[in-house]
Amino acid sequence: MKKTILVTGGAGFIGTHTVVELRKAGYEAVVLDNLSNSSPKSLERVAELTGGDAIPFCRADIRDRNALEALFSQYEFDACIHFAGLKAVGESVAKPWEYYENNIAGTLVLLDVMRAHGCKNIIFSSSATVYGDPLQIPITEECPKGLCTNPYGWTKSMLEQILTDMQTADPEWNVVLLRYFNPIGAHPSGRIGENPNGIPNNLMPYITQVAIGKRECLGVFGDDYDTPDGTGVRDYIHVVDLAEGHVKALEAIDRHCGLAVYNLGTGHGYSVLEVVHAFEEANQVKIPYVIKPRRAGDIAQCYSDPSKAEHELGWKARYGILEMCRDSWNWQKKNPDGYGE
Ligand code: NAD
Ligand code: UD1
Repeated sequence: MKKTILVTGGAGFIGTHTVVELRKAGYEAVVLDNLSNSSPKSLERVAELTGGDAIPFCRADIRDRNALEALFSQYEFDACIHFAGLKAVGESVAKPWEYYENNIAGTLVLLDVMRAHGCKNIIFSSSATVYGDPLQIPITEECPKGLCTNPYGWTKSMLEQILTDMQTADPEWNVVLLRYFNPIGAHPSGRIGENPNGIPNNLMPYITQVAIGKRECLGVFGDDYDTPDGTGVRDYIHVVDLAEGHVKALEAIDRHCGLAVYNLGTGHGYSVLEVVHAFEEANQVKIPYVIKPRRAGDIAQCYSDPSKAEHELGWKARYGILEMCRDSWNWQKKNPDGYGE
């Protein structure tokens, strides 16, 4: 019997790539998304990439208990992969209530409906942001959580705590906390990818918009960090590798992992200028840039020790920075306006 997985936020950037990998691995994926930051076209593309069958889709909000009740009555879910959430760091500073309400209150409703229906297996999208300014580099999962610099980060940190406490109180729960480093890239087909609204906050979407001529020039936020070239160092990971990590995490749930925490990164740090140069090399496009002041809340460097996921999940990132740059550009070129909405 095929296992059925509820994918909240499955129409978004990481969700769509994960639904592709779930279907490839033989799972039935049911998507719930309110489309607040995504397009229904993304799921049509996922269907096209995975053999044509439409993706079962429920347009609803995780805060809508009635909608969740109806969905859990319709399907017997084996597990939930929980991507749904707001994720814009700057917006979270301006609208903290909206972020806490959407991400935390929404997840509490989801967890309550899950347990009422006997589904106590969850994979949660967390972030390296929970380490704050990390005490050690590379960052292992033992590294203590730190102070977040924004409400978005706190929602991840708090939800990790809530899930941990629930699993402690009721060991029937299997909870996998996946701490993503910096997801970039796109499906190599160029049919699905990241679709930011407005001016991109993150580095790679900004670079691709400069490359396609939507923005004049990249601003590099600070060149006086304590890093080899003075610009910020991050652990970029191809979104397809990240998606595969979720399939591996489902296998851990099958082994009744209880509470498990994994970093999903490559273990390699690249500076902003190294990413710019890799993009130019991979795609033969010039990226003009200017050095700007540091961005508030940024840290000098952040990269993972991903060996725990390799040992326990048998997961390791396969793609390198050139492939990430190639696939980000391929997606942007083929879809200059995202999904066209
Ligand atoms: P995304 O915005 O593309 O996807 C999130 C999806 O959730 C969207 O389709 C949105 O419409 C949906 N959603 C938001 N609130 C909802 C609600 N209340 N009810 C139902 N659906 C809702 O973002 P993404 O980059 O795919 O990120 C997925 C998850 O991974 C998020 O939780 C994000 O915080 C986390 N994460 C992302 C990154 C990153 O760099 N992209 C890094 C670390 C963690
Ligand atoms: C940010 C968030 C993090 C979130 C992640 C993915 C902060 C402090 N952290 O991580 O919580 O999980 O995005 O959404 O916001 N840069 C430039 N110019 C740009 C954009 C970025 O120089 O136009 C630099 C940044 O200073 C940083 C690096 O590029 O050194 C990566 O930035 P970004 O892609 O925004 O990711 P993070 O800041 O690591």
